[in-house]
Amino acid sequence: MRTQVVIIGSGPSGLLLGQLLANSGIDTVILERVDRDYVLGRVRAGVLEQGMVDLLDEAGCGARMHAEGLPHDGISLAFDSRLHRIDLAGLTGGKRVMVYGQTEVTHDLMDKREAAGLTTVYDAKNVLPQGFDTDTPFVTYEKDGVTHRIGCDFIAGCDGFHGVSRKSAPAGAIKTYERAYPFGWLGILAEVPPADHELIYANHPRGFALCSMRSAHRSRYYVQCPLDDKVEDWSDDRFWDELRRRLPPVAAERVVTGASFEKSIAPLRSFVAEPMRFGRMFLVGDAAHIVPPTGAKGLNLAASDVRYLYWGLREFYQERSTAGVDAYSARALSRVWKAVRFSWWMTTMLHRFPDTDDFGQRIQEAELDYLVHSEAASAALAENYVGLPY
Ligand code: APR
Ligand code: PHB
Repeated sequence: MRTQVVIIGSGPSGLLLGQLLANSGIDTVILERVDRDYVLGRVRAGVLEQGMVDLLDEAGCGARMHAEGLPHDGISLAFDSRLHRIDLAGLTGGKRVMVYGQTEVTHDLMDKREAAGLTTVYDAKNVLPQGFDTDTPFVTYEKDGVTHRIGCDFIAGCDGFHGVSRKSAPAGAIKTYERAYPFGWLGILAEVPPADHELIYANHPRGFALCSMRSAHRSRYYVQCPLDDKVEDWSDDRFWDELRRRLPPVAAERVVTGASFEKSIAPLRSFVAEPMRFGRMFLVGDAAHIVPPTGAKGLNLAASDVRYLYWGLREFYQERSTAGVDAYSARALSRVWKAVRFSWWMTTMLHRFPDTDDFGQRIQEAELDYLVHSEAASAALAENYVGLPY
């Protein structure tokens, strides 16, 4: 079997890249380790930058997002028992974000791919990218006990943080940068209306809390928790009590409680692998970088990688120029590091660290106070939150 681009992984990165390439007449095969329902069962991010919204439109997958997604013009920062709104749109010349779950994005992209009759191999085991240091790369995998080989021009490693692509890069050719944070996020989904019509990011001496949503009837809430906590330690009642204690009274009293139908703990980390290209193999999205969720950048960075790679590959096939693919790694990394910086900064400012003493807490509150009362500082936050230009 032969195709032009083998895409490893059917998360948002792989599916979006596949759709944009297909729309330009470029042939792809996606190899996915697990099955479709497993991919769709993962609960993940929910805030899309305008650039990602535009890219989904360009891919022809934006209709349901525009019908059901919630455009947001602002966010609130909560500290010192008060809410302070950041007017994202007012501070950025009208830019906004779209609240629409990653699960829904993935669903829309899968439906489109299926309707277009494009090939996705689910349950592909032992996927291995090979020969990418030559002009004739190929990928092998096993399905139902049979080994298959697909020859191609390029391999796109869209297989997430635990994928095989990054691990296949020669050890001497890759450098990684990492910061692990000494806490996690306990997140729940509940079929209750959100506490506010916009997101609330709360700094509190007991720890960080976030009020988010998936729709007008479905809320997504998080509280910072110790890394060794277990989900079983957290009954719904304990979660709701802790959440409300960390919010200003005006927000706490608007929290509608109810049974959670999803509850999980995720560690927070920053990670970057450089470069993002090894010969004819590219790393895309979580395969190359991880950010803590505080800045809502993980999914959006995946989208900007996809955009740069899609431009490069289109240029290669339509104009026979390697300029775009040659520039891919540097272009992507320049934007990646700015989002890594922003996510690290938001995380540092909003969480309680093991060494956050009373002094540290006051410094955080002073920074937040400055942030919400200085138009220059608020504008810098807003510019990053809505997404830096591609
Ligand atoms: N072979 C084939 N597929 C694999 C392999 C493998 N060895 N390893 C992982 N995969 C698949 C996973 O099962 C998953 O479906 O690759 C996909 C990777 O998807 P994601 O982890 O969602 O990564 P990505 O598509 O880059 O999505 C961007 O940014 O911050 C996050 O929440 C955000 O998950 C989102 C990500
Ligand atoms: C979410 O809704 O899951 C969410 C929103 C904003 C974040 C992180 C997660 O910063």
